[in-house]
This record gives sequence, C-alpha cells and structure tokens, in this order.
Amino acid sequence: MEQKTKPAQEEKIMKTSASRRALLKGLAVGAGAGAIGAELLNVGVLSNTHAHAQGTGAALTKGDVAILRFLSAAEILEGADPVNLDKFRTLPSSKATGAQQIGRLTNLMQLSVDTSYWTKYRSRTKNPDFGDTFPPAVPGLLQGQFPAIPRDDNDLHPKKHIQAIANTAGFHFAFIEQGGTSLYPSLAQRVSHPEVLRILLSIGPTETAHFQTWHDKAGNAPALTDPTNGLVFPDLNAPPFGGEDFQTNLIMPEPTIFLSRKFPPVSIIRPTQTQGAAMGAAKALTDDGLFIGQSKEFFRVLQELAEEADEAQRG
Ligand SMILES: [Fe+2]
Repeated sequence: MEQKTKPAQEEKIMKTSASRRALLKGLAVGAGAGAIGAELLNVGVLSNTHAHAQGTGAALTKGDVAILRFLSAAEILEGADPVNLDKFRTLPSSKATGAQQIGRLTNLMQLSVDTSYWTKYRSRTKNPDFGDTFPPAVPGLLQGQFPAIPRDDNDLHPKKHIQAIANTAGFHFAFIEQGGTSLYPSLAQRVSHPEVLRILLSIGPTETAHFQTWHDKAGNAPALTDPTNGLVFPDLNAPPFGGEDFQTNLIMPEPTIFLSRKFPPVSIIRPTQTQGAAMGAAKALTDDGLFIGQSKEFFRVLQELAEEADEAQRG
C-alpha cells in the first residue's frame, strides 16, 4: 500500500527507538561498569524486589549480560544514539546540501544489499535453519557497492539515479530489520534471567513490525535501471520474477517448514537457530558494507561483543 509517513509520526518513531536504545544502553553500561548482576539489577528495570517477587533470584548470568551488551551495540548501529561506540564515529557524512557534517558510525554510501530475505519469507517449502538458500529479489544490489543516500549534490540527478538511491535505501532498511527480527528470538533462547527474557521478547517483535513496514515500502520501489551505474531494479511482479516468490503485495511470512520437515508448514520468523546468531548478525552487517572504512579496532570490538553473546548459555 502506498503510504506516507507524517513527520510527526516519524519523530515519534525516532523517539521510541531512542528510548529503547537508552534502555539497552543503561543495561549494557551497567554491565560494563564491573560487578555483573548487582549493577544491572539496580538500574530500575531489573529491580531486586521484582526478581525476588518472581522467585527467580537476583543474579544475572554472564551470558545474560553479554547478550544485553551485544544487542545494545546492534541497536546503536541500527539507528543513532552515541554511547560506548562513540569513539568509532569516524566515517564521513554525505556532502549533499543539508547533510549534517558529523562523524558517522555506519557507511550508507557503499552498500551491497542482500535481498534474499524477500524470497526467504515467501518460500513455502524452505527454511534457512535447514540450510536452505534463497535467491535475491534484486540481484544487482549484490554486484557492486551502491549508495542508499546521496553522496553529494551530483547524486540528485538524473531522476532515475536518485530514485535508484531511494530504492536501495528501501531494500536496505528491510534487510536490516529482518536481521533484527531473527536476532532477538535467536538470542532469547540463551537468556537465563526472566526479566532479560522479557526485554528481548518485548523488543524483538517491534523489529518485526519495522521489517514488515519496510518490506511493504520496498515493494513500492519502481522498476528501473540506474543510467549512471547500470543497477537494475526489476519488475518483481512480471516474468522472470513475479508469482508467489516475488510479487510485491505478498508481505506476510508464508507458512513453511519448521523444526522438522515432517511437521506441517507454519508461519514463522526465519532463521531462529541460536548457535552463532550474534556472529551471524555481525557478519551480515559487515557483508552489507555498513562498516566500510571502520577501524580494525571497531571490528575487534564488534567481534568480541558478538562472540561473548554467542557464548551465553541458558542457566
Ligand atoms: Fe528496527
């Protein structure tokens, strides 16, 4: 559906995301400050009283803390909010008129967007957790590095070029959100403390809401070829595309196999397997080109956060 987001609505969305990041940040910073558990339980969200009231005991496991820290970093990378990744805000801003000239954490100007989520969520017979792979909806987006924002005022024309940039952004943000859609349920399986689980279960589905919205928006991207670089956005509703695997008005997750091939198909988030989920997310964002230009130290920190989250064991 064609839909315009009102500025006021956008502002509200930004505020909501910012407070969510602040929550995870508060938890993660508490965790980084030293004694695990006690600090976290003092930040107000995870109160001792509440934990005891639930009969769960007060202590967070090392794994719980690692998961919160990784998710906090992932949230910061997805949106805005400087915090503990502040020193990595070194990437240049767009030079286009009106762009704020500040150091950036992420690079939106050299993306190679994997649009296989498009067919993954439409498949009726396959599931990435079974090792299945999926063709991208826009193969061209994987065959180069493309801007999702104008790099400077030269990118504002010709018309098909700036439209291609907008199309790239639409597919890119859906890619990011479907990653978050899988990340939360994947990591939730290794959380120990009930309130940490509550946090993941409360935030995760909002990622799904973001994904569905961007999925719908990306479906409105007009078919075109960018005359400046040959990037093709195919008509997803016509051969050789089209049909149930590509058509743009089918944005509900199709029922597919889950847990066992013997079970009947069910509409699910995919993938949700938990082994290496954080490292998988870090790799997907890196492959997307989001961190092109970042320092070695940035990648070391990201890998460390992801590895620690993946080491978490459900206690
Ligand atoms: Fe999101």
